[in-house]
Amino acid sequence: MISELVVEKNVEETTPSKKNNHIPVMPQEVLEYLRPRENDVIVDCTMGLGGHALAILQKIGPHGRLIGIDRDAQSLKMVRERLMPYLDQCHFVQGDFRDLDRTLGGLGIRDVDGILFDLGISSFQLDNPQRGFSFQTDGPLDMRMDQNNPVSAFDVVNSFSEQEIAAILRDYGEERWHHRIARQIVRQRAVRPVATTQELRDVVVQAMPYRRGHERIHPATRTFQAIRIAVNRELESLEAALDKSLEFLKPQARIAVLAFHSLEDRIVKQKFRTWAKAGLAELIVKKPLRPGEKECLENPRARSARLRIAVKRIS
Ligand SMILES: C[S@@+](CC[C@H](N)C(=O)[O-])C[C@H]1O[C@@H](n2cnc3c(N)ncnc32)[C@H](O)[C@@H]1O
Repeated sequence: MISELVVEKNVEETTPSKKNNHIPVMPQEVLEYLRPRENDVIVDCTMGLGGHALAILQKIGPHGRLIGIDRDAQSLKMVRERLMPYLDQCHFVQGDFRDLDRTLGGLGIRDVDGILFDLGISSFQLDNPQRGFSFQTDGPLDMRMDQNNPVSAFDVVNSFSEQEIAAILRDYGEERWHHRIARQIVRQRAVRPVATTQELRDVVVQAMPYRRGHERIHPATRTFQAIRIAVNRELESLEAALDKSLEFLKPQARIAVLAFHSLEDRIVKQKFRTWAKAGLAELIVKKPLRPGEKECLENPRARSARLRIAVKRIS
């Protein structure tokens, strides 16, 4: 578990800092295993800045269709510009991929040839201090992928009970010191609200039972991951979306999921296994595919990636 979170730290600390830059992870493998073909209808559930989507569009040709979903209105705005030459073939939908059935139903689409999930947040979101995802920069404690989400990180940190915060840190961050950090947050907010990413970072550091210096990841890494997952209800969305995906795949169509930490990868692994046991799908790879060394050097965010692929069986 620790080693997986070490990689999470690398994501936070070494993502390329060029603004509006997001290098797609494992693009060759995604294309090879998702296998988009001429005229296909493909759903990209996590458009981000459209890196994978662009590669898919080039494969499906001018008569293929791409349905691109993202919770983040800003990402979709930017992707529209990036994919300008392909706009006739694209349907962009701002929303949670957990509503895949409503999204596809609304477009009159009954089945599709492939579905991609590239989970988590993009460098574009992480690098913008105003979005409040990163403890490396200072900004408001926000962490909402969807700016219309009524609950932000500020709300979690300043209004959830000590027990609720501790449970979030334990369950979504696998944070050993969850009780201490939750207690320190509650102490601090009794003086004044914890309002910024730096304030939360400092509270976490104060809560640690040791002096900083030798840890392999920054002590705030797990807390930030946990609160982000809670704010965006990431694991619930993933569970719901995977079940809906299977319903919409044509027989022999594929689903590819890129996960970046053990909690989300476990959900994908278990879901695919359940489908396989029930004879609904086959696993294309038994173990998740990992990025090569070269890619990890060029794009540190790729280091923690695990790609799983399943194909729907002919019923
Ligand atoms: C890692 S980025 C995707 C990057 C993209 N593949 C690319 O190549 O540019 C993940 C994106 O998924 C979006 N996202 C995460 N969870 C989501 C959800 N439940 N529903 C819709 N979009 C989501 C985030 O807002 C983010 O833009």
